[in-house]
Parts: sequence; C-alpha cells; structure tokens
Amino acid sequence: MSTITLRVNGKTHSLDLEPSTPLLFVLRNDLDLHGPRFGCGLGQCGACTVLIKGEAVRSCVRPVSSVQNVEITTLEGLATDGKLHPVQQAWIEEQVPQCGFCQNGQMLTAISLLNKNPQPTDAQIRQGMQGTLCRCMTYYRVQAAIKRAAKVTA
Ligand code: FES
Ligand code: FES
Repeated sequence: MSTITLRVNGKTHSLDLEPSTPLLFVLRNDLDLHGPRFGCGLGQCGACTVLIKGEAVRSCVRPVSSVQNVEITTLEGLATDGKLHPVQQAWIEEQVPQCGFCQNGQMLTAISLLNKNPQPTDAQIRQGMQGTLCRCMTYYRVQAAIKRAAKVTA
C-alpha cells in the first residue's frame, strides 16, 4: 500500500491504496462517486470515462498511481454553482438517455470532443464518439445533443 494523492472535482484526497488499483474502483468505492460506470473493465466501452486535464480517459484501465496530482473531473463535478454543464443541459433537452448506463461516458467524451473542436461536423462527431458504446442505440440523439451544446458554447 502507498499513500496516493488525488485531485477530484476540485478536492484533494490522500488515500492508502495499492498503486495498481484502477482509478475507476477508487472513484466508486473510496470516493463514492458513481457517475463513472463499470462496463467492460477493458478500456473498450467508455462507460468509465472521466476527464483528466479536460481530456476523456478510461478510468478502468488507468492505475491510480499514474493520475496523482492532476485535475480529475467526474460527472459529479460538471455542474458549477448549481448550473448544469451545457452538455448536460443539451442531453436533457434532446432526451438522450434510454437505460442510461453508458451516458456518463457519452457526456464526458462529448465534452472532451468539444474542448478540442468546439464546432464539430456530423462526421467529426461520429469519429470522436465512435468508441463510446451504447447498447440502446442513442447515437443519433447523442449527435443532436452535441450539436445543441456546440451552439450554446459558440
Ligand atoms: S468500463 Fe472502462 S472502457 Fe469499459
Ligand atoms: S442508454 Fe442504454 S446503453 Fe446507452
């Protein structure tokens, strides 16, 4: 065990952990942040996505020791001053979720995409979101919500 320092959603946490523990397990089990989901556990579905320095990262395959002292944002940290992030708001307005299981990954990947490309084309959205899987096939609504959020943040 080692003392690991994590910065998550603006708060600093010092935890005694096995350094190879996946970040996802620490977020869910130690910090009680259940936005990131366990889907495949293999880095293949996107359900566990978090933002690290604004970039989408799959937390199920990221050892916790490798993300010390960098700003990690989970779904729970997106709203500021009680106001939803524009992507969250667009998700509501486009009624994107079906079962909801993948939607953490859809929203955080969308934010990462918009951080890099604030006005993506349909093709760029499909390309940027292609590895974030949804068994309920919400892909068209995800695309519509990203375009709506892009208009708001333009
Ligand atoms: S649970 Fe991490 S990519 Fe599937
Ligand atoms: S909304 Fe059900 S898996 Fe995506």
